[in-house]
Amino acid sequence: EKEGFACFMEKEIFEQPESIARTLSGRLDLEYATGKLGGLNMTSRELLAVKRIKIVAAGTSWHAGLVGAYLIETLARIPASAELSSELRYRNSVVEPDTIYFAVTQSGETADTLYAMRELKRKGARVLGICNVVGSTIARESDGGVYTHAGPEIAVASTKAFTSQLAVFYVFALLMARMRDMSVSAGQRFVKELQGIPEKVREVLKQRDHIQALAKKYYKARDFLFLGRGLEYPVALEGALKLKEISYIHAEGYSAGEIKHGPIALVNEETPSVFLVPRDYLREKVISNMKEIKARKGPIIALCTEGDAEVAAIADDIIPVPAVDELFYPFILIIPLQLFAYFCALELGRDVDQPRNLAKSVTVE
Ligand code: F6R
Repeated sequence: EKEGFACFMEKEIFEQPESIARTLSGRLDLEYATGKLGGLNMTSRELLAVKRIKIVAAGTSWHAGLVGAYLIETLARIPASAELSSELRYRNSVVEPDTIYFAVTQSGETADTLYAMRELKRKGARVLGICNVVGSTIARESDGGVYTHAGPEIAVASTKAFTSQLAVFYVFALLMARMRDMSVSAGQRFVKELQGIPEKVREVLKQRDHIQALAKKYYKARDFLFLGRGLEYPVALEGALKLKEISYIHAEGYSAGEIKHGPIALVNEETPSVFLVPRDYLREKVISNMKEIKARKGPIIALCTEGDAEVAAIADDIIPVPAVDELFYPFILIIPLQLFAYFCALELGRDVDQPRNLAKSVTVE
C-alpha cells in the first residue's frame, strides 16, 4: 500500500535508498573488489571471451541501458551500445558469436523487447535478462540474467526500477572491468562508492520541499529542455520522459552539445532548460552550453554539485546535490528530476499513477 504517501509514484521515488540497496545486496565483494552475478550462467572464462555487449530495451529501461553501455565501455574497455527493441526487432541485425545481449525490462513482458529477444535468440545470440518481475516471460526465456529486486513497481511511470537497473549495470561493469583493466584498489574504491549510493540518494530526497517550490514556479511552462552530456545525457532523456508522461508538459531531452545544431531555436524567456552539470570532466563544456542558453534569455534550472558557485551564478535556480565520484552522478541526478516531474503533475492536477494513454506493461506492439 501507499504507506502515507499521496500516490504510488511518490512512495516509489522515496523508496529508492532501500530498493538500490536490495539490488546491490550480496552482489559486491569488497575483498576481491568485484561483482558477483551468478544468475548470468556464465563462467569467468566465458565472460573474458566477450568482445561486445549490446543492450535492447524500451523507454526508461532503454535509458538505463544507455548509461550501462557508456559505463561498460569506459570501465571494462568492451565496445557496448544500447538500442531500442522496437527498432532492433525489424532490422536485419548482425549477431556475432562473441557478443552478449542484455534485454532490460521492469515488467519482463514488454512485447517489443520480448520479440527482439526472440529474434536474437533465433540467430543464435546469448541474451541475458535484467528484469524486475520474477518469473516474467523475458526472465523465463532469457539464457540467464539478473533480477533487479526493486520490489513491485505500481505507478505507471518507472522510477525505482530505473535506479535498480543502473545498479545492476554498475555491478556488471565492475565485474567485467576487474577481469580486464581495473586494479584491486580502484575496484575497492568503486565498491565503496557504490555501497554509499543509497545514503547519498537519501540526502538528495531531503530536497523535496525545495523541488516542490521549483515545480510551483515553473509548471506553467509549455515546453522544457533537459540537457546533459556523457553519462548525464541519458539522464536528461529520462528526466524529459518523466515530465511528459505524468504532467503532459512537452519536454525534450538532448545532449547539451547538440543544442546548437537545432534545438536552441526553441529557446526564449518562456522555455526553461534543466541542466545536469555535476563536477565531472564535461563540466566546463556544459557551463559553456548554459551560457549559450542564457544569452538567449532562456530560464535555467541547474542540477549541480553542492558548493558550485560558478554554476549557481549562471543559473536562475539550482538544485545542489552531494558530491560523488564522477561516474556515479546518474543515481544522484535522476532523483530531483523524478521529483520535479511528480510535483509539476501534482500542480496540474494530473492522475500521477495512471497517466492517460499509458499502461504499466506494453504487451502490444
Ligand atoms: C517509463 C515507462 C515506459 C517503460 C517501457 C519499458 O516511465 O513506464 O517507458 O519504461 O514501456 O517497460 P519495461 O521496462 O517494463 O520493459
